[in-house]
Amino acid sequence: MNLKHSYALIAPFYDAFLTATTHAVRGRSLAALSGQPPGDVLIAGIGTGLDIPHLPPQHRYVGIDLTRAMLAKARRRAIGLPVRLVQGDVHRLPFAGERFDAVVLHLILAVVPDPKACLAEAARVLRPGGCIFVFDKFLKPGERALWKRALNPLTRRFATRLDVVFEEVLAATPDLTRHHDEPAMADGWFRLIQLGKRA
Ligand SMILES: C[S@@+](CC[C@H](N)C(=O)[O-])C[C@H]1O[C@@H](n2cnc3c(N)ncnc32)[C@H](O)[C@@H]1O
Repeated sequence: MNLKHSYALIAPFYDAFLTATTHAVRGRSLAALSGQPPGDVLIAGIGTGLDIPHLPPQHRYVGIDLTRAMLAKARRRAIGLPVRLVQGDVHRLPFAGERFDAVVLHLILAVVPDPKACLAEAARVLRPGGCIFVFDKFLKPGERALWKRALNPLTRRFATRLDVVFEEVLAATPDLTRHHDEPAMADGWFRLIQLGKRA
């Protein structure tokens, strides 16, 4: 089974598990968008659209996801907000370089098979001076995390990776600098990170 198939099966249940647990953290992550002038924002791996209630109205949004069933739920949530939804792969974004003022990477960087390619693509489509908002679960450099690494071969096939070290992913994209990094949930396993692209 690949992620596209498994997320099609997960779609009907996703919100029941993730809405309440992540609502406040999403609000914290996306608060910075409110103070920005109107721009173009990409939500990569938008899923069922749990970020949508936190999106301020002045921007234009594009949401991309691999899974049609997740996008169908996002579409219902997006009514009334300028959100264009596209089916596609975050490893190969179908957008021109420097097209967006901000990119949201919530629960996608540690999900996809190749997080370095995902972050490099986010950086490519981001304009210089733009911002990337990350919310995800990461191992710390050198962390042994035996049970997470043991489960990873199974979980990475149908839901998420458990072995991604953010610092290793970031090091592969030298255009980006880390502006902010704070623990978000589960004793700091989940983190809120803001990255900027050098102007
Ligand atoms: C854990 S969910 C996160 C959804 C949403 N970002 C959130 O915060 O709730 C992961 C999402 O990534 C999507 N996905 C997985 N691999 C992808 C890929 N290569 N390109 C685009 N989306 C992908 C899945 O379909 C799923 O909707």
